[in-house]
Amino acid sequence: MQKKTANITVNPRPFAYRHRTLYCDGVDLTTLAAEHGTPLYVYSAAQITERFQLFQRAFTHEVRPHTICYAVKANSSLAILRLLATQGAGFDIVSGGELERVRKAHKPALKKVVFSGVGKQLWEIDAALDADILLFNVESEAELHLLATRAEARSKVARFALRVNPDVFAETHPYISTGLSEHKFGIDIKSARAIYRAAKKSKWLDPTGVSVHIGSQIRKVDPFAAALTRVTSLIADLRKDGHNIRYVDAGGGLGIDYGAGAFDPAKQVEKYAAALSKGLANEPAHLLLEPGRFIVAQAGALLTRVLYVKRNGSKTFVITDAAMNDLIRPALYHAHHEIIPVREPAKQSAKQTAGKSSSLVVDVVGPVCESGDFFARDRALPAFKPNDLVVLLDAGAYGMSQTSNYNTRPRPAEVLIEGKSARLIRRRETMRDLLAPELNGINH
Ligand code: LLP
Repeated sequence: MQKKTANITVNPRPFAYRHRTLYCDGVDLTTLAAEHGTPLYVYSAAQITERFQLFQRAFTHEVRPHTICYAVKANSSLAILRLLATQGAGFDIVSGGELERVRKAHKPALKKVVFSGVGKQLWEIDAALDADILLFNVESEAELHLLATRAEARSKVARFALRVNPDVFAETHPYISTGLSEHKFGIDIKSARAIYRAAKKSKWLDPTGVSVHIGSQIRKVDPFAAALTRVTSLIADLRKDGHNIRYVDAGGGLGIDYGAGAFDPAKQVEKYAAALSKGLANEPAHLLLEPGRFIVAQAGALLTRVLYVKRNGSKTFVITDAAMNDLIRPALYHAHHEIIPVREPAKQSAKQTAGKSSSLVVDVVGPVCESGDFFARDRALPAFKPNDLVVLLDAGAYGMSQTSNYNTRPRPAEVLIEGKSARLIRRRETMRDLLAPELNGINH
């Protein structure tokens, strides 16, 4: 996990072995499992803060007024939102539910909220208008029309940006690529100017900015520059048309390295900032960013316990107490997550290794009744046995936030590591929680 550069060591994760046991910052994971059970999400507060500050510093260095609006969907835990809000973060939300989370986590942050999403409902628009959020990222003419109507009904002027679709290809998984004209997202950049012009007729609409988001887990920074070049030229046209554009929202999407190889997050953010600056050229508008994954993914891991090891034909299956309902990324996107044991395997001498390997090619799977319920397929891993604790790395983003109760499984608990102490920030669900909303269930 450790990468050596010229004279510093970069560990992109807060998880490291000490005395042969895996720690998250100052807390050992064996103790955590004993105290809170498994499956358990574990996050490092220090790393979340550090990643957020990487963005702050990179854009301060690029000398641009900016606000980092963390994408709530990546990990919407109230404790994490509060941690980021106290660092000065704004928030990118996509639902009325996420708006409520921001309100609950840190009410003053509502004024730094941008509201994205292709299907905003009337009640969500109303709630966001009442909360006086910074900006609506509008994704269709029909939505703009509804926004004007609701703003008028509440006698409030709605600040909006059109989320334009720049038709830029971001090399990523097709499910999370959004910037091509074939995708449902945004408004064709070529029609944007006319829509801004028409919006000028409503005194309830304030064309405040232009926004773009081309996808997620994007590893090359050039597509960000290409998208912003197009946006910058649109802003120049809009200024000619007399619009007072004050914000440019570059969206999120910066990818991490899920592998075991070298990765320097600070360098990556610097490259990203340089690419955005190239795309923005001399555009003076206040820059909004919506990073999610890059801030929280590597700060988090899913701690799970091996239940059984079994062989079927030629295959060996390691069955863990976590399943696809707890972390769906491998099942949904064939995403790779590194899997490591909590107890560091003994290093073998050359003589031992020659005789017999201590690693085994296995599938790591959960108990859910689907063959799609896997965390790894045909992967060489240390020989695990029942009761061993193992960790799925880089699970801080789109892990807990994409959990479900499939197979009537309670969602995992979550702990936030703050230096040497661990704080339970979400308790494990109980059967009572799961059955509570059902009519004629055991509670009624
Ligand atoms: N802004 C908008 C408008 C978005 O749709 C997204 C992510 C973001 C910002 C944050 O993107 P990030 O910086 O996290 O890449 N569940 C998938 C990822 C879905 C991304 C959806 N939109 C996964 O697990 O890979």
